[in-house]
Amino acid sequence: MRGHDWFRYSVLAALILTYTTILLGGNVAASNSGLACPNWPTCFANGSLFPTLTGGVVIEWSHRLSAFVLGMSVAIFTALALVYERNRPALLKISVVSAVLVLAQAFLGGLVVDSNLAVLVVIAHLGMATILFGLILTLAILANLSHVPPRWRAWIRRAAEPDSPRLPRPPAEPVARPKPERGSADLPRGS
Ligand code: HEM
Repeated sequence: MRGHDWFRYSVLAALILTYTTILLGGNVAASNSGLACPNWPTCFANGSLFPTLTGGVVIEWSHRLSAFVLGMSVAIFTALALVYERNRPALLKISVVSAVLVLAQAFLGGLVVDSNLAVLVVIAHLGMATILFGLILTLAILANLSHVPPRWRAWIRRAAEPDSPRLPRPPAEPVARPKPERGSADLPRGS
């Protein structure tokens, strides 16, 4: 696999992880588990990164774990962008901005805990999550655009350009048919 492929696949993985982390964050808020881990970055003041997983701790800790894996995936695609995407500066810039945002988001997550779930901090944490998702979604689309099948490309053009003529669908790939054997019942009549 080429470096560009590693990059676009790692961005897709990060997109799925961002979505997962957002869902797990919603679960933390909806179940009032925000202070089940009262410390940050460790869960309890005893300094262990791996607390006993019971009750709300499972919910809060799984959100933190998912955020950590997300952070790693963003670090990986940013490193790949720095190596392989220097000739696509827009992708490189969005990658670097995503890396900065994910760091800021983790910091804000810590602040959510330290502030005892202060409303403004929680709103900022939610707002930043949506911006991060939008950014990584844009990156995933741009990085994979040249690999979109022609059928989808024609659909995108029709959807985006209001006055575009309805272009005929691109022909389907020819399917190789097996040759019928001599004397087989499948032979066309007269052969
Ligand atoms: C880095 C990626 C992260 C993303 C995308 C993310 C996203 C979210 C989202 C969408 C929510 C739900 C907010 C709501 O419904 O009001 C949430 C809640 C929360 N997040 Fe994160 N988060 C991240 C990292 C962290 C980290 C590292 C911590 C560390 C402590 C953290 C702590 C929390 C807490 C405590 C809540 C619950 C807030 C409440 O109870 O109202 N988050 N997060």
